[in-house]
This record gives sequence, structure tokens and C-alpha cells, in this order.
Amino acid sequence: MPDVTIALGDRSYPAIIEAGLATRIPQALERIAPSQRYFVITDANVWSLYAEMFPPANGRYQLFIVAPGESSKTTDSLNSIWTFLLERGAERSHVVVAFGGGVVGDLAGFAASTVLRGIRLVQLPTTLLAQVDASIGGKTGVNHPLGKNLLGAFYQPVAVLIDPHFLRTLPQSEFQSGMYEIIKYALIEKNGLYEQLTGMNWSRETDLTAVIEACVRCKARVVAADEQESGRRMILNFGHTLGHAIEVAGEFQSCTHGQAVGWGMLFAACLSRAMGLCDEMTERAIETLVRRNGALPRLRHDAAALTVAMRRDKKVRDGLLTFVLPKNIGEVVIQAGIPHSRVQAQLEAFLS
Ligand SMILES: NC(=O)c1ccc[n+]([C@@H]2O[C@H](COP(=O)([O-])OP(=O)(O)OC[C@H]3O[C@@H](n4cnc5c(N)ncnc54)[C@H](O)[C@@H]3O)[C@@H](O)[C@H]2O)c1
Ligand SMILES: [Zn+2]
Repeated sequence: MPDVTIALGDRSYPAIIEAGLATRIPQALERIAPSQRYFVITDANVWSLYAEMFPPANGRYQLFIVAPGESSKTTDSLNSIWTFLLERGAERSHVVVAFGGGVVGDLAGFAASTVLRGIRLVQLPTTLLAQVDASIGGKTGVNHPLGKNLLGAFYQPVAVLIDPHFLRTLPQSEFQSGMYEIIKYALIEKNGLYEQLTGMNWSRETDLTAVIEACVRCKARVVAADEQESGRRMILNFGHTLGHAIEVAGEFQSCTHGQAVGWGMLFAACLSRAMGLCDEMTERAIETLVRRNGALPRLRHDAAALTVAMRRDKKVRDGLLTFVLPKNIGEVVIQAGIPHSRVQAQLEAFLS
């Protein structure tokens, strides 16, 4: 499988997508990021499954394990990682390896960006969501009690190593969550993914190498055109305006990120149709694709509560909401300036 390049001038880097790569991690690191020291940051679930992928922790390989899950994306964990790196004599030429899902990628990435103003970083994502999304593009960060991802930095890795074999041990709910992001890529750009997805089985047993590659290529194109999300990168937020609100209103307990995005894509299609931006056939096709990924949990919040949560989003200006809306399969528009009252009315109809 050819590498995908994330083209950012002198900060360009490869995403290497290769089934079975996990069995050759030390060799791969040696080749793409040679270093005297590797600081491997992972979570307890991933380490319990994949410890043997690394040489035993010794002078050259150092290990830091966080508790699994979103609750580790805090300034407390960050502080512990800073201390770990500094106590063990990290230098800028050394390498931090973020080995896990998006939580570890965001946390370890942010730690790497700040210690000594930047230690080299390799992303080694193990969830579907991290392989197609979180590990690519350089967004890193942690949560603050006042909100998710409020502290962070853009910090590009020197490489991303993706082995689809890691997905074999993923819980079904995490697999499903990542599939919603893949559906998102199929809908925001004409890149062949829609056709690929409609013609294949969706399961952890399916070889997803080609699908992951298509997603990484899509994200690489978007990030290369707009690294810091001042314009086009916003199309990656398709399904996320309502999705984030669902997560915030449910305090991140009610469903996975992917499921929230699944609801968000269904609603974006409904709103788009109501605003005359897409036709019924497009709305139905989106609904069919999203529903194919399994049942979505019932939403526990009403339209008013979800609209309040959307208005709190850091991107909202003057109570006007921005949505990424589908026009056709593989074509979206960034629609700013939609009054929240308009959204709330549509959401009431959508939820009834
Ligand atoms: N930086 C970005 O651009 C970006 C983009 C999207 C999401 N994110 C962030 O990513 C995070 C979510 O990431 P996630 O969905 O990967 O969640 P996660 O990192 O919490 O991983 C989900 C669960 O799967 C377990 N796990 C990981 N790999 C496994 C494997 N191979 N086998 C078995 N279990 C495994 C983890 O221990 C965890 O319990 C959120 O914090 C989100 O904000 C960041
Ligand atoms: Zn997402």
C-alpha cells in the first residue's frame, strides 16, 4: 500500500497504512524516526493487548500508561506526562510515540508539542476513529472543566503508522463509532468511498485497508489546503454541529462520538432538504447509509436543550449557527448564519 503524504511544506509527513505493520514497530520507528529514545504513551487497555509489540521498557524505550477513556484527557494527565518526560531526560531529538485511540493521540500529542517547545511525535493509532481521523492533521489537546478540547495546539507528527489489524480487538461499539466518521468522508467529497462502502460488508473482519487509505487521503487533502481550519477544513465538521451538542447535553455518557455524528448527519440532511439545498433522493441516500451502521440510541434531550448546547459551541457568532450541509452525495456546503430559531424548529420536526 503506498504511503499517503500529508503535504505541509517542510512539515510534511507520511501516513503508512499496512496490515501487519504492528509486528514490526521497532523497525518501522527506526526507519522513519530514528532516535536514541522512544517515549511510548499508551492506555491500559491497549497495553494489555499489545505490550509485546515493543521491546521491554529499558533505557531506550520508556513507557507511560494512562487509564483508558476520555477521563484521561485532562491537564492532570498532561502534567504527569510532562514530569515523566522531563525526569527521564527527554530531548527534542527524541520521539514520543502515541500508541492508542484518539484520547492517547490528543493527550500525548499535546504533551509532545509543549515539552521543550516540541519533541518529535509519531502517531500509532489503534482505533478506527483514530486511524481515519484523530491521528491525521495535527490537532492535539486536552479537555477543561469548562469544555471539551479547549486547551491544545496544532502539532504535526513526523509520521503516522496505521495497522488495520489493531481493529480486530476493538469493541463493536468503538468499531461502529469509527464507521460513522468513514461515512462522513464518503459524503463530504467525491472520492470513491461511497461506492466502496455500498459494495462491501462492514465488520471488524472486513479488510478495511483500502477504506482507511481513502479516508486518510481525504483528510490529508483537506488539511493540506487549510491546516488551521480557517475555511475548507470545516467540511470535516459535517454531522458535528448537532453531534457535539448531543455529546455536551448528554455529558458524553449517552452515546459514542460516532453515534452523535450519525444523528448529526441525519439532521444535516433533513435541514438541507428543508432549506432547498438537496433533493429527497440525496436525503434518503444519506439516511440509508447512516442507518446501515446500526441502530442509533434514542436522544434523551429535546430540541430546545440541544439548540442551547449548539449555541454554546465555540464557533457560534451572534446566535447564528454554521452547518455543513449536503447538496449531493459527495458534495457539501458550509452554511453560516442560520438563525438558531430556524434550527430549533427543524429539530423539533426531526425529533417528532
Ligand atoms: N485530534 C483530532 O483531530 C481528533 C479527531 C477526532 C477525535 N478526536 C478525539 O479522539 C478521542 C476519541 O478517540 P477514540 O474514539 O479512539 O477513543 P479512545 O481513545 O477512548 O479509545 C476507545 C476505547 O478503545 C480502547 N482501544 C483502543 N484501541 C484498541 C484496540 N485496538 N483494541 C481494543 N480496544 C482498544 C481504548 O482503550 C478505549 O477504551 C476524543 O477525545 C476526541 O476528542 C481527536
Ligand atoms: Zn468526529
